[in-house]
Amino acid sequence: MADDAADALPPGSTPPAPAPLRPLPRPPKLPRQHLCASGQLEEKGRALVFDVSHFREPARAFVLRFEGRVVAYLNRCVHVPTELDWQPGVFLDSGREFILCSIHGAAYDPRNGRCAGGPCGQGKLLRIEAVEDAGQVYWEPTADTRPLPPGQAPAPGP
Ligand code: FES
Repeated sequence: MADDAADALPPGSTPPAPAPLRPLPRPPKLPRQHLCASGQLEEKGRALVFDVSHFREPARAFVLRFEGRVVAYLNRCVHVPTELDWQPGVFLDSGREFILCSIHGAAYDPRNGRCAGGPCGQGKLLRIEAVEDAGQVYWEPTADTRPLPPGQAPAPGP
């Protein structure tokens, strides 16, 4: 117990200061990760779902095309941390204007991931940087969101 160490000190003395915390080393920057050919992502169509490691836990992410651009987010609702899609790859509402959570109907703006209505409040989806280059789509790993290591089980499905 912590009090035992303090009790062992001579009367009137102060315990030594704890060692300063050192930040954990940042993982090395990884190259962008290939997802698919650009032609696979139709305007406001079905998303491509892919596995990532988010804070070292398996998770799912998705990329879709909206207003000509590819956008990618972690597949996790702000309201309750659960996956959003109605069926694998189906994220948009019937009007194809919002990313709609299948659980309680939170609506997110596909352009920026911000909550546009429903129980997501002031929250926004966690953006994953997606880029198109020479007819291919890639995502950019960060220190927190990285490719799922080989052999690690993907996140359970919706
Ligand atoms: S879990 Fe998404 S709106 Fe409640």
